[in-house]
Amino acid sequence: MPGTCVIGLQWGDEAKGKLVDILTEAHDVVVRYAGGANAGHTVVFGAQTWKLSIIPSGILRGGVACVITGGVVLDPAKVIDEMDGLESRGLRMEGQLQISDRAHVVFPWHVVEDRLLDSSLSGGGAIGTTGRGIGPCYRDKVGRALAIRLGDLYRPDFREKVEHVVAFKNRLFASWPASTTTPLDAASIHAQYAAYAERLRPHVTDTTAFLLDAVEQGRRVLFEGAQGALLDIDHGTFPYVTSSNSSGVGVSSGSGIPGRWMDRVVGVVKAYSTRVGGGPLPTEQDNATGIHIRERGREYGTVTKRPRRCGWFDAVAARYTARLSGVDELAVMLLDVLGGLDELKICSAYEIDGRRVTQFPSQIADLEKAVPVYETLPGWQEELDTVRSEHDLPANAQRYVDRIAELLDRPVSIVSVGPDRAQTIIRGPEATRRPWLSPQPAKA
Ligand code: GDP
Ligand code: IMO
Ligand code: MG
Repeated sequence: MPGTCVIGLQWGDEAKGKLVDILTEAHDVVVRYAGGANAGHTVVFGAQTWKLSIIPSGILRGGVACVITGGVVLDPAKVIDEMDGLESRGLRMEGQLQISDRAHVVFPWHVVEDRLLDSSLSGGGAIGTTGRGIGPCYRDKVGRALAIRLGDLYRPDFREKVEHVVAFKNRLFASWPASTTTPLDAASIHAQYAAYAERLRPHVTDTTAFLLDAVEQGRRVLFEGAQGALLDIDHGTFPYVTSSNSSGVGVSSGSGIPGRWMDRVVGVVKAYSTRVGGGPLPTEQDNATGIHIRERGREYGTVTKRPRRCGWFDAVAARYTARLSGVDELAVMLLDVLGGLDELKICSAYEIDGRRVTQFPSQIADLEKAVPVYETLPGWQEELDTVRSEHDLPANAQRYVDRIAELLDRPVSIVSVGPDRAQTIIRGPEATRRPWLSPQPAKA
């Protein structure tokens, strides 16, 4: 079967971009199926650094079809900017990049709403969104009445649609208590988006039909996740989440390709935890350890440049998202960052109201109370950036990776020890065993 999925198992930025770039070699098609310009995926090889946001990371390898599906919310200005940037560095978009006519379009009003709404979350702190209009665009998609899809930009009633939505949004913004928004101008927005539509025209197509043909013909398709499973709108740390299904459960709905075509799910984790924006991070280290991780891992957001919150690896959370996403094997990224610490901790349970639990809580109020129960492992002092074989990893680094595999009940098939493509260790055949697929006896 032809489908591989790459899914972040934490709160995003697990280095999915690096992994997708590596796995692209064995695939014919790379698909971005959820999220939008809130994502920032970095790929490094040689002296080159590439930053991608909406365009699949597979674009960096020539000859691979790259597809943005209808599950993505598409800001045309951002995607055109990204295309221009890639073309100026010698990459070809024509004939290689396809964009779904079903994708919902991010308009200026979505960005305004994102800014106005984020700080007014009922009963809690701000989500700390990326300000890219993601939530408001998905909200209009679900609400339907004010939604505009990419295919609509080519229809004769596009101008009328924009006028209708702008009139509605202007009334909404005017009624907002703290609103400082100047009214939107339908004519100029229409003109701007009509120009974007012309630029994108050669790329716009029915990607569902293309992908169904691709899998039925046995072409190998790689699904590139955005965000991380703990930011999933339904299964993540709601309300501190993004507005799409960013865990493995979102691959089919976002791409239109049934799960039966996917035979390999790679769960990507950092060797520690990070989070940007609001919401609980039980293992957060607001101390010297957190600073050590942030500085060694250069943990500053790709999209918003915000410092990322850092902490120990949370095996309760990652085991939950590995199961939720149907993960077969793990990629442990940024292992090098943990070098130089005497001791490392892994959270293997929570204590909530005096009770020890290993099941990830469904309620944010419980997660906020969770006190991590840690296992302590010995650290290593060696730099790992030149290690290329698992046998050359320091024993304590191997032990750390093995413990993650045990706690998540999945083999670690890939270990990353630096941002470059080359700084990657592919582990042996034991990494493809899948014992958790055998039926488990029911617990008494
Ligand atoms: P994504 O959103 O999941 O694609 O991840 P990001 O690209 O936002 O963040 C991962 C960051 O870590 C990027 O700056 C990568 O270049 C970098 N990176 C990837 N793998 C490694 C690694 O093994 N070690 C180190 N030190 N950096 C890495
Ligand atoms: P990649 O693909 C890390 C976070 C934001 C915020 C929350 C909601 O690079 O891993 P949104 O703008 O989506 O409404 O913000 O989700 N967030 C991410 N954090 N990596 C990402 O993407 C993220 N995309 C969204 O910081 O807390
Ligand atoms: Mg990122």
